[in-house]
Amino acid sequence: MNKIMVVGGKRLFGEVKIGGSKNAALPVLFAGILTGESCVFENLPRIGDVLLALEILRDLGARIRFLHGGDVVVDYSTVRPVLPPRQLTEAIRGSVYLLGSMLGRFGKAMLAGAGGCDFGSRPIDQHLRGFGLLGAREEREADVLHLFLPQGECLRGTRIALAMPSVGASANLLMAASVAVGMTVIENAAMEPHVLSLVAFLREAGARIDMGRGRRISVLGKERLHGCRFRVIPDMIEAGTYLFAGMATGGEVRLLEVDPSHLGAVLEVLREMGAEIRVGNEDILLKAPERYRNVSVRTGPYPAFPTDLHPQLAALFCIGGRAKGRGEIRETVWQQRFRYTEELVRMGARVGIEEDRATFLPAMLSGTAVRSPDLRGGAALLLAALAASGRSEITNAATVGRGYEHLEQKLRGLGAEVRIFG
Ligand code: EPU
Repeated sequence: MNKIMVVGGKRLFGEVKIGGSKNAALPVLFAGILTGESCVFENLPRIGDVLLALEILRDLGARIRFLHGGDVVVDYSTVRPVLPPRQLTEAIRGSVYLLGSMLGRFGKAMLAGAGGCDFGSRPIDQHLRGFGLLGAREEREADVLHLFLPQGECLRGTRIALAMPSVGASANLLMAASVAVGMTVIENAAMEPHVLSLVAFLREAGARIDMGRGRRISVLGKERLHGCRFRVIPDMIEAGTYLFAGMATGGEVRLLEVDPSHLGAVLEVLREMGAEIRVGNEDILLKAPERYRNVSVRTGPYPAFPTDLHPQLAALFCIGGRAKGRGEIRETVWQQRFRYTEELVRMGARVGIEEDRATFLPAMLSGTAVRSPDLRGGAALLLAALAASGRSEITNAATVGRGYEHLEQKLRGLGAEVRIFG
């Protein structure tokens, strides 16, 4: 996926099926290593990051089979504790989950760089502090990180209070704690649906995990986990992006196979902006108003408005002829998530940025050539292009393919004039 061409101005109407969640698929795929057996994954999205994760697992020795019905079987019995290829692990942030899963299974883990979207620094100090409290030691050889247990030692349950509710640290420590000796209590854990889905996967594999009050998770370690079957939850960020696409074009979009309970803060913002929303058990219907009100939103850890929908919401705020008034986003998770705004400005957007806050005023957007800076930034450019007059060309589109499955097919199914090359 190199380039996305869009002719803007078409209202989107119709139904779109939401795929499996990227950020839920990555931790469970790597957590499967802990089982040392086969796991069957249903609803695994065929997107760039997931395919890379499978390639990493294959390189470590896992045997992977794609079944006719769409399920994927991963046999982890043949995984070896070796250094996975840098060019693969550097490409996705999710490769950091190899630390918890390999440490738990083999008592050692190695990783050279972990990539994903570039939002400035993406530290893993909370992961490492937690592994240290569980008994692991850490060494670095150039930029290769080694985690290991001292001779004759094992992971031992303990209390770990995270400095912030980090998704990655919570997931990594849940994996290691599941096979530690004794009880681990993780305080200030992330509660994103994809973290809870990892808890469900680990329980399915035999782990004993209790969700306490607040942000506390207790894990009573078990010597062995076992293989299991697991269905990946729907992608709340993909879902939000299609709701926003309906809004951006004054259309009417029904999402199918979605979990509305994951989208509370997003639906609240859309309603405040004037959208009519009807929620079923597994579907959401959005009817966009002709004009909507811009609002003020603060991103934050779940259940707050998700940072991974910030750029897409910003695109809505910029669309002249639909948006009214001043929109504001305060980004509290990734301070450097504003790179997409430079490209929106090339389409005519009016944006002001001050520290962690961006403000937007509606302006008539015109299609042009823009470059996707990262996954969600690229999705924002796509939404702007769908609403802009004329033709847009989005390059570096592989960044978008990392997280959106069957993008061309889904958008065309809704009536968009879009073509994806490469
Ligand atoms: N942080 C630290 N130290 C740590 C860990 C995190 O300071 O050890 C900070 C980060 O710098 C950031 C904040 O804590 O400011 C939150 O980071 P978190 O660990 O929650 O993020 P992550 O696990 O690296 C996942 C998603 C991101 C999503 C964030 C926040 C995956 C593979 N990635 O990243 O998804 O933005 O949680 O919800 O699950 C995306 O899908 O576009 C994406 C970037």
